[in-house]
Amino acid sequence: MSEANNIVWHDAGVSSEERKEKIGSKPCILWYTGLSGSGKSTVANAVDRILFDKGYTTYLLDGDNIRHGLNKDLGFSDEDRVENIRRISEVSNLFLDAGLIVSTAFISPFRADRVQAKALIGDARFIEVFVDAPIETCEERDPKGLYQKAREGVIKNFTGIDSPYESPLSPSIHLSTNCDNVEQCANQVVDYLLENKFIG
Ligand code: ADX
Repeated sequence: MSEANNIVWHDAGVSSEERKEKIGSKPCILWYTGLSGSGKSTVANAVDRILFDKGYTTYLLDGDNIRHGLNKDLGFSDEDRVENIRRISEVSNLFLDAGLIVSTAFISPFRADRVQAKALIGDARFIEVFVDAPIETCEERDPKGLYQKAREGVIKNFTGIDSPYESPLSPSIHLSTNCDNVEQCANQVVDYLLENKFIG
């Protein structure tokens, strides 16, 4: 619910349909979810590169980067993670309205938040991509040294250690980054977009 009174929605002078037509793709959101170190950003960036090179207008919102700016006031309590995902859903929706193929790479650990994001964005445009790797693999990779810090108790509420991760029950795309390499995972996503006519 809005905190502000006396605000009125303004209809856009340029419609979503017009923007979509100009850009020439079917806007959608690739919602990557998975543990820290599972490969969300890596795969999302690889897909973004392929789509960009094919001439599509894309934008990638990445957890660590967004937390440097828009969401720098948020931490990792359950409450802050919910707010993190709520803001990202709203921002993604604006990019969709602008006609882009949007990718988001956030742990987004709570099922309910992803369901809410999907409800806001719409079933037909929301593509949930589960970037799956066993926690042991993520911990072994530990690209930022954060699992080690979490094990030592230096970082609290770390996803997979002392904060939960709720796996998607029926993701649109299921990637196994411990079985397939980055290129194979990226191709799996691009193939999905082709098969479902988001790109032609
Ligand atoms: S989310 O849970 O709110 O969706 P988000 O994707 O924005 O998380 O940020 C996760 C990134 O923040 C991780 O990749 C990691 O680099 C860093 N990070 C720092 N502290 C934590 C923590 N307690 N739990 C998970 N990730 C953390």
